[in-house]
Amino acid sequence: MWKELSETADYLLDKTKIRPIAGIVLGTGLGGLVNEIQITDIIPYASIPHFPVTTVEGHQGNLIFGHLAGKPVVAMQGRFHYYEGYSLVQTVFPLRVMKLVGIRQVFLSNAAGGINPDFQIGNLMVIRDHINFFPESPLRGKNIDELGTRFPDMSEPYDKRLIEIAFHVANDLGITLRDGVYLGNPGPSFETPAEYTHYRLIGADAIGMSTIPEVIAARHMQLPVFAVSVVTNVAFPGNFQQNTHEDVQIAANQAASNMSHLFKGVIVDSPYSS
Ligand code: HPA
Repeated sequence: MWKELSETADYLLDKTKIRPIAGIVLGTGLGGLVNEIQITDIIPYASIPHFPVTTVEGHQGNLIFGHLAGKPVVAMQGRFHYYEGYSLVQTVFPLRVMKLVGIRQVFLSNAAGGINPDFQIGNLMVIRDHINFFPESPLRGKNIDELGTRFPDMSEPYDKRLIEIAFHVANDLGITLRDGVYLGNPGPSFETPAEYTHYRLIGADAIGMSTIPEVIAARHMQLPVFAVSVVTNVAFPGNFQQNTHEDVQIAANQAASNMSHLFKGVIVDSPYSS
């Protein structure tokens, strides 16, 4: 695996002159951030050696190198989800490659169902902590010592400094920013009313089908993580409605502009960007 990761990183370093200081994962419907990037290189996943291949319709698969608010970045346009059939090791391959390409911090976005009754559709929630319901770990198997330790610490999964900066940026921009605990489920079915209720009881504020494997892989490599969920649907006692992927995408698209501005502001002010 280390050999494949190194080969892929060398390939990319040869393809682009950009030396990114941040890696960004653009989740469902949040591709709008790409319009804010001054793009230098678009590299389709299908052309990158050892990269998994995207299967979901409507998910683009490109690695984008360029500048966001003057900072060199690499962005994943489309991510790999466990529910598509990949192993978790495969889903975090691109993130590991981005580390080898030089990123010093990770920015993740996702769509999530809000189960905190104070949440409204379209809210952004900064993730402070998570609860992992994926049935395996991206670190399962022989440890890759070049990347990190066998038993990584998870006491600060989401970087406290970046969270604080996000609240300043949101305040300056007049964006309502929530914060809370993200619970990750493998999907692809949405939760039942009893499950939403259960997850609320154990301390979650929002539920999604991604992000946690990437956070584990990032923390294994000691990369600071910043992650935000767009609340695309809400589910709590007295308010359980039918969920569709289309509604999730529509709500995510509507929040995309706020998300873009927030990410830009945090990347500019991040202590890891200079
Ligand atoms: N559950 C799981 N994943 C999701 C949801 C949800 O309600 N909404 C968006 N992604």
